[in-house]
Amino acid sequence: MTVANQLEILDLRHFSARQLRPLLEDEARLWKMRLRWNYESSIELLLQYLDSRILPGFVALDRGRVCGFTFCVYEGHKAVVGDVYAVGSDPVHSQQITERLLRHLLELLRHSPDVDRIESQMLLYETGSMSKSFLEEGFSIHPRLFMEFDQPESVPTSPPRTPRILPEYMELSRWTSTSYQPAAELIHAAYANHIDASINDQYRTLHGSLRFLHNIVRFPGCGVFEANSSWVLRDKRIDMLAGMLLCSRVAPDVAHITQLCVAAPYRRHGLGRILMEHCIENLSGDGFSAITLTVTEANALAVKLYESLGFTVHHRFDAMVKDASPTRRDSLGLLG
Ligand SMILES: CC(C)(COP(=O)(O)OP(=O)(O)OC[C@H]1O[C@@H](n2cnc3c(N)ncnc32)[C@H](O)[C@@H]1OP(=O)(O)O)[C@@H](O)C(=O)NCCC(=O)NCCS
Repeated sequence: MTVANQLEILDLRHFSARQLRPLLEDEARLWKMRLRWNYESSIELLLQYLDSRILPGFVALDRGRVCGFTFCVYEGHKAVVGDVYAVGSDPVHSQQITERLLRHLLELLRHSPDVDRIESQMLLYETGSMSKSFLEEGFSIHPRLFMEFDQPESVPTSPPRTPRILPEYMELSRWTSTSYQPAAELIHAAYANHIDASINDQYRTLHGSLRFLHNIVRFPGCGVFEANSSWVLRDKRIDMLAGMLLCSRVAPDVAHITQLCVAAPYRRHGLGRILMEHCIENLSGDGFSAITLTVTEANALAVKLYESLGFTVHHRFDAMVKDASPTRRDSLGLLG
């Protein structure tokens, strides 16, 4: 019997957290192995949502046994495909299950008149491996890099670069909750006409940037926020944020940089490098052995900065976007 025949695809809302827990625990093992990421706190949050039976999605059953799931969340007129995961008898089998699940979910979204934008970032999966179902639905694909910096066990033999000196009118300080509003304003401005604003439309508005920050600081989806290892740069002359770096803990000894940006007028003066070097030095003092981050491959300047600091590409994955929002349709000449 083919996989297609023996699989049943059912509405996620029929399933309890208890029924899905083994699958999620299996996925958590993969996150740890592939990305050094402790996914357990994200899973506990997801299980709470699953038990409230509100998440749109699907479960795959193989002869009555739960073998895969996918879900999305709605943010206004946008849907974000949150996850897809399957366990099969072999990788080809798992791939077939995830493709079936994604096809169901994307078809559901295609028939949801209120949804005019869909985003997804499949961090766990190698580039190309999940793209088939998305390409069939007309998505654009943006390759992204998962980069890692490992703290050297001994003092490096090559002479260190001369550290950049912070201009005296700049103040570097730790993140506090008073930074929320100015940080959102900085993010919104820093990503104007930026490739990452086509991947994540939260960057395009101030409200969206606040929401982005809120998710990073309050929820464990990107690790547990580390206020002590997150930094803001303020131009004292005009009391304005010029740059920021946010960091989360994704495993006991692994940090993840969730945001780095410098306001356009301050770029190319070494501030991005100063933020990164400061962060690396502090995390090393705090016992972190590795730092990870994600960056869009087309963002060549940022990639160059990370490489020059010793980050290496550990893994390539895809971000997927489909946008048919009224402004987008208008710009494509699709509106009457
Ligand atoms: C990426 C970003 C943070 C860099 O900040 P910055 O303060 O301009 O960076 P620096 O001046 O410290 O430059 C550091 C390095 O980046 C590279 N770089 C940055 N801008 C560059 C440019 N215009 N041309 C060539 N190289 C550049 C260089 O390798 C430079 O090395 P150097 O110190 O030997 O000159 C900034 O451009 C930014 O905020 N961009 C928008 C948001 C973004 O893309 N964030 C990263 C998301 S993963």
